[in-house]
Amino acid sequence: MSLPAGLTSYEFLRSLEPSTDLARYWHLSIRKQEDGRHPMLAPDGIPVPTPISLEAFFGKPGPIEIEIGCGKGGFLVEYCEKHPELPLVGLEWENEIACQAARRLQKRTHLPHARVLLGDAFYFFRDFLPDSCVGAFHMYFPDPWPKKRHVKNRLMGPRFMEQVLRTALPDAPFFWGTDHAEYNAEAQAVFASLPWLEMEIPNAEPTEGIMTNFEKKYRAQGKPIYRCKLRVKKPGVEKV
Ligand SMILES: C[S@@+](CC[C@H](N)C(=O)[O-])C[C@H]1O[C@@H](n2cnc3c(N)ncnc32)[C@H](O)[C@@H]1O
Repeated sequence: MSLPAGLTSYEFLRSLEPSTDLARYWHLSIRKQEDGRHPMLAPDGIPVPTPISLEAFFGKPGPIEIEIGCGKGGFLVEYCEKHPELPLVGLEWENEIACQAARRLQKRTHLPHARVLLGDAFYFFRDFLPDSCVGAFHMYFPDPWPKKRHVKNRLMGPRFMEQVLRTALPDAPFFWGTDHAEYNAEAQAVFASLPWLEMEIPNAEPTEGIMTNFEKKYRAQGKPIYRCKLRVKKPGVEKV
């Protein structure tokens, strides 16, 4: 893996920059790996905590909301239209797709605090998000990595949920949806194992009636959809 001239890997990993030509589009890092598509992962796996200033990133303080794997931004845009003042960030690691979402936001100047971040959701959580700042999590149709040898790539798991607990505000809802029965079963087992997570609606409808791009496609194909709404119960933290 080679880095741009003048950057040590440490600085490179910490780079979190706004785009110079696309308003409200931020880059976590740039991948310098073979396929050239995904942002670079920490080569040493060592956390580099660099909590962002919410004011600087969103143009206002939290609580914020996060969509993990926002794709082209179908849900993100419709949801923000209902909550125009919301500081919400969509995390997406495919550049072309993330750009499409960012372009949709750019046209909507009445949604000044919505952002798209190009980067790996896990590293954004682990290294950049401050403690207790997220008012709601949206995770819809995450890549199921159906092949056995790829299952380890699934984002949902205890390691990711540790970050959800750390960054959540008390009582923050966690919205989950997938079309993949086996991934859903695995996720439900993770949810059930976490004493701080409460199942609120096991068969939820689309959040505020908004379907994501993938959901529209899958429903049109008659696929089953597994959605639920959970709630983060942080031990020993009083609601402010
Ligand atoms: C199946 S698509 C679903 C997109 C959208 N949520 C929807 O329902 O229409 C999953 C998206 O998550 C993105 N993604 C997968 N893993 C990610 C990660 N670790 N960090 C950020 N984005 C990720 C993929 O690039 C893809 O665009």
